[in-house]
Amino acid sequence: MIGKISQPLWANQSRTNSQRQLSFGSNYRAYSTRNAKDPYSYSLMETTTCMFRDDISWIALTKFLINHFKKAEKVQILNPACSDGSEAYTLIMMIKELDNKNSQKYLPIKACDIDEEILRAANSGLIKTTKNDRIKIQTNIKDFTKYLKKTNEKLNILNDTLCEKDSAPNNKTLKVTDELKNSVEFKRNDLFNMLRGHKDNANTFLMCRNVLGHLTDREVRRFAELAHKKLDNKSVIVIGDFDRKHTDIEHYLREYNFKNVLRNVYVKDEKSLQFGDILQDYLNDYRVQARTSSF
Ligand SMILES: C[S@@+](CC[C@H](N)C(=O)[O-])C[C@H]1O[C@@H](n2cnc3c(N)ncnc32)[C@H](O)[C@@H]1O
Repeated sequence: MIGKISQPLWANQSRTNSQRQLSFGSNYRAYSTRNAKDPYSYSLMETTTCMFRDDISWIALTKFLINHFKKAEKVQILNPACSDGSEAYTLIMMIKELDNKNSQKYLPIKACDIDEEILRAANSGLIKTTKNDRIKIQTNIKDFTKYLKKTNEKLNILNDTLCEKDSAPNNKTLKVTDELKNSVEFKRNDLFNMLRGHKDNANTFLMCRNVLGHLTDREVRRFAELAHKKLDNKSVIVIGDFDRKHTDIEHYLREYNFKNVLRNVYVKDEKSLQFGDILQDYLNDYRVQARTSSF
């Protein structure tokens, strides 16, 4: 999958009722991808996402970013694997609520997804919401009508099991305001391509969540390595619970000098003493001793 835009192959998903009840997102849709190098290997991908996905504290994250980048004139936010745009919209609403006068320096967010269908949904400016989404929006945002409007339009996403009436009687499509929509650029791209093409202005926030858990160990390691190479010191990365649970990403980020500061949030910190440095110090000591003892 690295370096290529692969076309998703639609999986005919028949889900049981108990699986459906687990659906909490603004969409619940699965597809399979084929590994270009190995046509017989398939892996299952999900486009599931939601507003205020609760594997991070959005308030703590936004306050951290505002403080961390307070001296920066411009902050570049990248959101690969953006799905229908829910998390980019969540972040913009939080930034506007907590630091409205400086909000422009974070915009536009550059977002991408590999899946054509979910990108079509993201570009529509429509968001499907469950009751849970709407409760989270109302508890976090004082006046959410500044950002989201009622609409009679319906967003239908291919193979989205939340479309089914029996599983989602309370779902509603909302329309994001032009201001919110224009704050994000959605493009079809592979996350590795996006990262490879990125030129860091020393203030990058990379929001790449709940996709690494679908990748191979080699790809996850490559992601950490690429992030280290492409992002300047003090850049921030946020991943998801799904990524931490299913991969060694924490270990790889540590190895590449990213320091954990909040749940799922890491800062590139070249000064922090990492395992690699400790090992290097040990080897240097060893070499000095070896040389000394040879006299
Ligand atoms: C489970 S969703 C996560 C959405 C969102 N980031 C979140 O945490 O709620 C994973 C998304 O990653 C996308 N994706 C999978 N592989 C990708 C790749 N190589 N590059 C970009 N997007 C990818 C999928 O199409 C899907 O929309």
